[in-house]
Amino acid sequence: PTPLAGRHFLKEADFTAEEFRGLLELAAELKAAKRAGIETPYLRGKNIALIFEKTSTRTRCAFEVAAADQGASTTYLDPSGSQMGHKESVKDTARVLGRMYDGIEYRGDSQAKVEELAAYAGVPVFNGLTDDWHPTQMLADVLTMTEHSDKPLTDIAFAYLGDARFNMGNSYLVTAALLGMDVRIVAPKTYWPAQEVVDRARELAAASGARVTLTEEISEGVAGADFVATDVWVSMGEPKEVWGERIAALAPYAVTMDVLRATGNPEVGFLHCLPAFHDLGTAVGRDVYEAHGLQSLEVTDEVFESAHSLVFDEAENRMHTIKAVLVATLG
Ligand code: CP
Ligand code: NVA
Repeated sequence: PTPLAGRHFLKEADFTAEEFRGLLELAAELKAAKRAGIETPYLRGKNIALIFEKTSTRTRCAFEVAAADQGASTTYLDPSGSQMGHKESVKDTARVLGRMYDGIEYRGDSQAKVEELAAYAGVPVFNGLTDDWHPTQMLADVLTMTEHSDKPLTDIAFAYLGDARFNMGNSYLVTAALLGMDVRIVAPKTYWPAQEVVDRARELAAASGARVTLTEEISEGVAGADFVATDVWVSMGEPKEVWGERIAALAPYAVTMDVLRATGNPEVGFLHCLPAFHDLGTAVGRDVYEAHGLQSLEVTDEVFESAHSLVFDEAENRMHTIKAVLVATLG
């Protein structure tokens, strides 16, 4: 059995830095093996349930392809496709699925729900995104950073600009603190992660040597950064009404070429978990933005389409890293 056999994957701080790095190493090995056409299927005969109470492209496809590559099969349950939350409790659903499946992925709003599933399923449960954390995304992002940097992880500096109170901001802060990185949260103070998240990050940083900065100043926040990241300004499940205030508050924090230049690093990489609003020509962006008469997006199309942009490597790495989680916990 692997060191993580039987473990859940619910949030980053449940793991030691060594365990987290172990998953990254396994992901890199699995990626290389797939590319060389010599992947070994470690999950033959395993069955994995994928519960999605929110929509997904990358996470769902990553789980399905990773499982198929490894010889496992999946069942996809969409928001209307299961009784959970409508006619049946999380606790009962967990006990039923745990009798049939070897592992369960869950995406939805509340972290408490995925924790409850884990408490009753009797099999490993994987967090495919909640409002609080996006841990599988963190594996992909850190793998992408290591692939695009010659520095050891503990020397890598990255800045996250935008709404940092939600899953991506929280996860970046805690993951970087766990791994000993140099992380800067760059946003208006009201958009910083909750105090308990910051406190947890500072505790982890004290142990790992991470440098944790929260600032409203873009030039201070991005100076010397190896990577700059952002996320949508309005997340899944939030009401449309918040778009106006969100764009007004976060427009100065849009990732533009000027922001990349302010890093002073000509090689700076750009990360975004996707989906992204980067092009007002796209139907989805146009609708929302025209409704508010606003032009600013979280990242300009110029940055998104530039050589700095690593977003499609990052998206591909969702699959390799989720595969590592499956192999490590179920293999
Ligand atoms: N980044 C991410 O989780 O994408 P999906 O919402 O498409 O799964
Ligand atoms: N913060 C975004 C991330 C999507 C992958 C959301 O929750 O919608």
